[in-house]
Amino acid sequence: MVGKISALAEGGYFKTPPIWMMRQAGRYLPEYRLIRASSPNFLELCYSPKKAADITLQPIGRFDFDAAIIFADILLVADSLGTKVEFKNGDGPVLSPIRNKQELSTLKINPRCPKLSKIGETVSLVKSRLGADKDLIGFIGAPWSVAAYMVEGGTRSKFELIKSYLYKDAEFLSELIDIITEQSINYLKMQIDAGCTVVKIFDSWAGVLPVDEFYKFSILPTAKIVSSIKSYRSDVSIIGFPREAGYMYEDYIKQTGIDIIAFDSKVPLQVAHKWQDELPVQGNLDPSVLMGSREVIAEKLDKIMDNLAGKRFIFNLGHGIVPGTPIENVGFTVDYIRNYEQKKNSSSTV
Ligand code: CP3
Repeated sequence: MVGKISALAEGGYFKTPPIWMMRQAGRYLPEYRLIRASSPNFLELCYSPKKAADITLQPIGRFDFDAAIIFADILLVADSLGTKVEFKNGDGPVLSPIRNKQELSTLKINPRCPKLSKIGETVSLVKSRLGADKDLIGFIGAPWSVAAYMVEGGTRSKFELIKSYLYKDAEFLSELIDIITEQSINYLKMQIDAGCTVVKIFDSWAGVLPVDEFYKFSILPTAKIVSSIKSYRSDVSIIGFPREAGYMYEDYIKQTGIDIIAFDSKVPLQVAHKWQDELPVQGNLDPSVLMGSREVIAEKLDKIMDNLAGKRFIFNLGHGIVPGTPIENVGFTVDYIRNYEQKKNSSSTV
């Protein structure tokens, strides 16, 4: 038996689309907050297989999502290369920055990093407890997005510092991206060996790249990762998410070799509908909609389903769930999508 996302990537179709949500394990869940309160260090929590497996399965227990995504973080690759990474409560990540060749030379590619192997243990634990009808999603950050945090030393609104390197020292940037790419391939292979059936590449900051640089620093490294993974295990499906890539989504789809495109809330549904002739699409409810009334949520869900559910589709958000999201609205959304087909049929026969 394969999960529904894997089945879609192999050409299957479901009238009721599989559903999961980015950041489905996280702060909007009281059971997550409970474990988190007893583990002040977020990275240590990621490196604790038993706790991380429990957290991964929390949203499956509550909402019966069609896929579990391993509880970890895209910045673990930076940590594994030797960068100091800290999550200060509420302020987002803080990293020891990599801004010159000397700092770059401190990074070490480590195919059998003991810390990352903890994530392999989490994958195995989750796999043993997850129904065979569900996909287990592993992930990495795309090299560009991981590099953005490494150069900036944390989150910046426009990533102006790393963008300046595009033009003042592209060679340095290429070297950094190559190192991240190689370590990410090692890490993805390990997640796949441990039992992930689907992997996702989060290019959260793809949207800050101009056209030429998008090819060089988003598409090319992603294509390299995809071809390595495909030659390693051709049965694993790869989801690409070049967030806010706008007009560049189409080249990304054509040139990276990904199996499924995840798209953000700014992509018009008619555009995603056209992409469905080429590959399954995943998206794109704005996470803030889940803060709205049931009427508003239903209206937005109708629009997404009417446009996309007729072809290969995975229901998801356009970005991660916001911490203050009412849990009832997540449950309402899952039920609404699952009952949609039936509701449509009964209203058309009245
Ligand atoms: O449920 C899941 O989605 C699985 C786990 C997961 C996390 N991070 C856990 C997490 C996944 C897939 C990620 C990916 C991730 N991490 C991305 C790509 C997706 C995106 O949001 O664009 C990025 C950019 C990061 C880096 C990161 N991690 C930031 C910038 C932050 C701070 C901002 C924030 O949301 O707090 C994190 C922290 C983080 N990663 C949390 C969780 C549950 C919150 C940490 C906490 O509990 O305090």
